[in-house]
Amino acid sequence: MISKAKGTYDVLPTESYKWHTLEEKARQICVLFGYKEVRTPIFEYREVFHRQNEQSDMVTKETYNFMDKGDRGLTLRPEGTAGVIRSFVENKLYVENPLNKLYYIGPNFRYERPQKGRFRQFSQFGVEAIGSNDPALDAEVIGLAYAFIQKLGLKGVRVRINTLGDNESRADFKDALKKHFEPHVDTLCDDCKLRIEKNPLRILDCKVDQQHPAVLKAPTTQDYLNDSSKDYFQQVLAYLDAANIDYEIAPKLVRGLDYYTHTVFEIEADIEGFGAQNVLGGGGRYQSLVKELGGPDLPGIGFAFGMERLIIAMESENIAFNEDKVNDIFLIATDTTARIQAIKLLFEARQQGLVADMDFVSTSFKAQLKSGLKSNAKYLGIIGESELQNKTVSLKNTTTQQQEEIPVKIAIRSVKSWLGK
Ligand code: HAM
Repeated sequence: MISKAKGTYDVLPTESYKWHTLEEKARQICVLFGYKEVRTPIFEYREVFHRQNEQSDMVTKETYNFMDKGDRGLTLRPEGTAGVIRSFVENKLYVENPLNKLYYIGPNFRYERPQKGRFRQFSQFGVEAIGSNDPALDAEVIGLAYAFIQKLGLKGVRVRINTLGDNESRADFKDALKKHFEPHVDTLCDDCKLRIEKNPLRILDCKVDQQHPAVLKAPTTQDYLNDSSKDYFQQVLAYLDAANIDYEIAPKLVRGLDYYTHTVFEIEADIEGFGAQNVLGGGGRYQSLVKELGGPDLPGIGFAFGMERLIIAMESENIAFNEDKVNDIFLIATDTTARIQAIKLLFEARQQGLVADMDFVSTSFKAQLKSGLKSNAKYLGIIGESELQNKTVSLKNTTTQQQEEIPVKIAIRSVKSWLGK
């Protein structure tokens, strides 16, 4: 037996309805907010993700990179944003509309250490709004994430928000952090030792060094914001208040990717058994990514939720998913001639919009009956010798156990009306 690759999982038929529920609700919320779906490839040329300005662990250490037979360097996407921006630029979406509001649902790949809520293949639902510097758009994007969480029925969820300021403020903050951490280099964890040069912001949310005195005393982004960045953040908060969105300001929140400027946010849940992976989703604004990928100088803002974490969260809060529909009718035939009639009815039922099935494995009456009951069918449609002669079907209501012999011609119509369909 060959097992699944490490860090991956199967969505079995008994679980797939949970995914359908989530995807359906994501699509519904995007319709309400005016976001349109974009589907981009699962692999891209490596330059899409491996950029000079992107030195995050996620891109430098965790991507799946490979060469194809034509000697092209490719990367399995570790996140949605860069591919969506590549597509936005390549297809010049900015020409038609000044603002593009896009969403996506699909798999991503990161070579991480698997644990609960952390996989090597995982799925994200994300949005990107590209083309506006309006702080009200930040509130709209955070509001969409918030509305989605509410639609799912998740409680105990917090929106944490911070600002990194514009490129200038962010660069000043980075320098200040370097200076702050350099004297402590020997006592930081191995990863943070390297981060001092490359990405000192990440030291602030390192899980290992969380309680390190130098981390606790580190400067925060607020100390290095220029006036316009401060003002921008205040406006975002005012719009969030106006939209009635609860949030808490988290001065140490910096996020894992390097493209962020101004607003960053995460959605966290207090969920039992969730452990370290309590971030359901996160995102923020990016000032230079579109330009970096060869496009015009346009800003964007977006977020992504991890679908697996949302499912785990919903399961642990016992929130009901829309279960798959059970059979309205299950047809049972006692011999080959009756089976012809059963097939006719099976197809008629489906054409009429009923969920219908029959047994394609067993032919004995007993076994077919067992299959029908196991499938939780609302009605059993039994065709035996006498029904064939009388041109009827015996329709049995599995709840009331009542059985009636109904002419074949009106059998499906009858079931439909009994079910109020
Ligand atoms: P991210 O924080 O790297 O951001 O990922 C977003 C979410 O994806 C996480 O909060 C988490 O729920 C889920 N996730 C990440 N890695 C894993 C994993 N290995 N296993 C399971 N779930 C995972 C981004 O990806 C940005 N592209 C978000 C964004 C969009 N920013 C702006 N626009």
